Amino acid sequence: MAKSTVLLLDDRPGTAPTLQAQLVAAGCPTTRVGDPGEALALLADLSAGILIIHSDACLDLLPFIHQVVQLRDRPSVVVLSSAPTVREAVAVARAGATNYAESAAAAVRSVQDLAGSLAAGGRPRSSGAAGGRFGGLADIIGASVAMHKVFELITKVADTDTTVLIQGESGTGKELIARALHAEGQRHAAPFVPVNCGAIPGELLESELFGHEKGAFTHAVRTRIGRFELANGGTVFLDEIGEMSPMLQVKLLRVLQEREFERVGGTRTISSDFRVIAATNRDLEEDVASGRFREDLFYRLNVIQIEAPPLRHKVEDIPLLADYFIGKFNRARKRRVSGFTPEAMAVLRTYAWPGNVRELENVVERLLILAPGNRIGVEDLPERFMMSGPALASDSVHLGGAGLCLSEVVTQFEKGIIEQALNRTGWVKNRAAKLLQVNRTTLIEKMKRYQMVRSGGGAEV
Ligand SMILES: Nc1ncnc2c1ncn2[C@@H]1O[C@H](COP(=O)(O)OP(=O)(O)OP(=O)(O)O)[C@@H](O)[C@H]1O
Ligand SMILES: [Mg+2]
Repeated sequence: MAKSTVLLLDDRPGTAPTLQAQLVAAGCPTTRVGDPGEALALLADLSAGILIIHSDACLDLLPFIHQVVQLRDRPSVVVLSSAPTVREAVAVARAGATNYAESAAAAVRSVQDLAGSLAAGGRPRSSGAAGGRFGGLADIIGASVAMHKVFELITKVADTDTTVLIQGESGTGKELIARALHAEGQRHAAPFVPVNCGAIPGELLESELFGHEKGAFTHAVRTRIGRFELANGGTVFLDEIGEMSPMLQVKLLRVLQEREFERVGGTRTISSDFRVIAATNRDLEEDVASGRFREDLFYRLNVIQIEAPPLRHKVEDIPLLADYFIGKFNRARKRRVSGFTPEAMAVLRTYAWPGNVRELENVVERLLILAPGNRIGVEDLPERFMMSGPALASDSVHLGGAGLCLSEVVTQFEKGIIEQALNRTGWVKNRAAKLLQVNRTTLIEKMKRYQMVRSGGGAEV
């Protein structure tokens, strides 16, 4: 969910839809929940920028407000109480609320102002690109051919209502792509509702998606609306769809076909207008072949497929991403790291990155805490960078439909290993040759053949 999105906690069921409708009409996409527990759960995974509380029992909510303002990603908090007392207003402000409103109209204005200032200066990521909405294309860094294809597809399909399946390894930016599809499309003013199908146990997932009626099961003490209903007008992001149980796969298929469902324990048919974006790091086609995933559901989801490329297939983006994360963590940690030395960058370029962009982000964050100097050198890199094989390790080479050229793969592999040895030894050929267990002339001959020269200069022996 975008930072400009509003989460409305309203414990007065009768009036709830009105305020939500007013906020949406005022251009503030709003998701509504009925109790503090639900609000905390959603805040944790939706990161809404503004929380508005509409309650006649604000004093009871003080511990909750206090908890919310302690969150790392704390939203601005607006409290609306129609029967305010001075004591209440003071207590709410002390607990950390940003604004206190006495009428729905004042609350809406307050939310609009906050959303406006968030949009103007409060961008969580400043990529430098102008005009992008929160979570939009501007938040995705990449200049590689592989990413150009992704940008092109996002631009083409964002404004349609087509179901999109995003496939890619862990940490490749699938969620970022899903958010961009939403933010760049016509549904951007309505909520983006992510559901991690792999993290929520089967029984719970059903009520999470469809909601439940009061008394539907032991702990269903009140009626709860599900994510499909929350996403009305917006987008549901079904993450790790490959983990969904066969029983839920059937139910999901029906929802995709009819856009109608019943809450768990309910009989009333509910319709909701939402777009579906799904993501998986599994090979769903293989799961279909083995019977793990329903073929009819796969075809429903796979109308447009976007492939999130692994980092080792977009090596040219590594310096850009590294710079971007250095900027981000310099700001967060108040450091002034200027970048990597050419040798360290060369090591980053040859590393296989099994955790993809997320791993790069984590490495940069760690280095900005631990590295002593303003420039990050090879010696600062974690141990595993020195042990790993190059990006083109055998497990990352796939024999695609068109096959592959063996000598080309072997050449790339050899080049990668030599480059790594040279980087580890500061391009001292004697030492690199020793490390590779070849003699110096063989190494020099290969370096000539592969036209390997040291970028950034420095002594070579
Ligand atoms: N191209 C990119 N530009 C900037 N940041 C990126 C890019 N790709 C990924 N990231 C960052 O890397 C991290 C992982 O991205 P994201 O959560 O979208 O990946 P994912 O494919 O959904 O991973 P998983 O399968 O593990 O859920 C996030 O912090 C995200 O912001
Ligand atoms: Mg993800």
